[in-house]
Amino acid sequence: MKTAHSKVTIHMVSSLDGYIAKKNNDVSWLQSSDHFEKGITLSDQQIEAFIKKIDCYVMGSKTYEMALELGWPYGNTPVIVITNRNLQTEKENIRFYSGNLEDLVNKKLKPKFENIWMVGGAMLTKAFINFKLANEIIVSIMPILLGGGTLFFDQVGIEQQLHLKDVKAYKDGMVELCYEILKD
Ligand SMILES: NC(=O)c1ccc[n+]([C@@H]2O[C@H](COP(=O)([O-])OP(=O)(O)OC[C@H]3O[C@@H](n4cnc5c(N)ncnc54)[C@H](OP(=O)(O)O)[C@@H]3O)[C@@H](O)[C@H]2O)c1
Repeated sequence: MKTAHSKVTIHMVSSLDGYIAKKNNDVSWLQSSDHFEKGITLSDQQIEAFIKKIDCYVMGSKTYEMALELGWPYGNTPVIVITNRNLQTEKENIRFYSGNLEDLVNKKLKPKFENIWMVGGAMLTKAFINFKLANEIIVSIMPILLGGGTLFFDQVGIEQQLHLKDVKAYKDGMVELCYEILKD
């Protein structure tokens, strides 16, 4: 856990035209499948090992509610849900937070967790980029145009230099781009 090496990653799955959700909230597009001969495939063990390294998830309340509806994918890993509402849960690994996001990340999460993932949605992405709370952005692009919906980056409002750290192309046509967010 923890320390000066703590890293905050913004991760989301997007269509090629930049949407993370359809207007009707249908999520079947997330399974869009193609065949890219030169792509890679991860084994179940590799995926499991990767997920095990994530120490904590942060998300907006709408993403949280969608995750509950679709089937909770975060197991028992600590999850912080950002909301101004008085939400309740019986799950012990979930905490609700309202207030200053810089305090949350810098004073509460970074001293405790090393690998922090902010997994949506667009509102929270905008806040994390504006307050410079993230170190990297990973976008997994599905081979589809959605034509409308919720944009990943919707009028973020600031210019931000990025450094392309990694690119992976998968056999099912998904392309994963990993960018470091450069400090000013
Ligand atoms: N494709 C993907 O990888 C992916 C990933 C995540 C989400 N999604 C989709 O994206 C959609 C949700 O995204 P979204 O942008 O509409 O919503 P969101 O960011 O998930 O949640 C927005 C809510 O979070 C709370 N919030 C956000 N910023 C806050 C702040 N600075 N202070 C206090 N509370 C704050 C507010 O909650 P209250 O209203 O409760 O106060 C706000 O209504 C869903 O359709 C979801 O399925 C897709």
